[in-house]
Amino acid sequence: MVSNVPLPIEHVARQHQAYPGSQYTLPADDEELQRLTLQHQILKEIYENRILLAPVHLDVNDAVLEIGTGPGLWIMDLAKSVNTSIPMFGIDIESRMFPVSPRKQIEFRVESATRLPAEWTNTFSLVHQRLLMAGLQRSDWPIVLGEIHRVLRPGGWVQLGESAAWGEIILESLAWRNSQQWFEAYALPAI
Ligand SMILES: C[S@@+](CC[C@H](N)C(=O)[O-])C[C@H]1O[C@@H](n2cnc3c(N)ncnc32)[C@H](O)[C@@H]1O
Repeated sequence: MVSNVPLPIEHVARQHQAYPGSQYTLPADDEELQRLTLQHQILKEIYENRILLAPVHLDVNDAVLEIGTGPGLWIMDLAKSVNTSIPMFGIDIESRMFPVSPRKQIEFRVESATRLPAEWTNTFSLVHQRLLMAGLQRSDWPIVLGEIHRVLRPGGWVQLGESAAWGEIILESLAWRNSQQWFEAYALPAI
């Protein structure tokens, strides 16, 4: 006899970050890694394989930071295309998706976008941050942009990629000297 009782929906438990104070809602597990990998490939295709849109020529004296690096896909791609002695950092509040054996020039660290290390002031010629809209509250944004400005060297560049609406991702590169524009781009009061 066939039962009319609907089968229960099976939920697979997902693993989430546990960084103190963070309200980031998406998981950090193998399934999320696969989603981010596909998303990175799609974004690369849309931007005709260009991962660096900021007009910066990276040299041995430069340093690069990626904030909210996740599995580090962007920074690992960048590392393949530049001088191997350029120091690079990928930071995230969750380390579970960090690559197991990254290239030697990239250091992955657990840090938050809202409070970058004090010793990084004036350090980076390029900061990249992409798709943190599910991790940052509106009130976090002026703080995060202020932190990016602090760790950039004068003359440096930031490349930001966020979604204007679901499905529409905008990548933007802004110069250190025009930092007022960053706040205007995000419709935020400058700090
Ligand atoms: C949607 S994923 C994007 C990952 C990567 N940027 C990319 O484009 O493939 C967002 C990442 O931001 C991280 N994140 C969320 N809040 C953060 C914070 N306050 N500081 C640093 N990373 C954060 C999450 O842990 C997650 O790895």
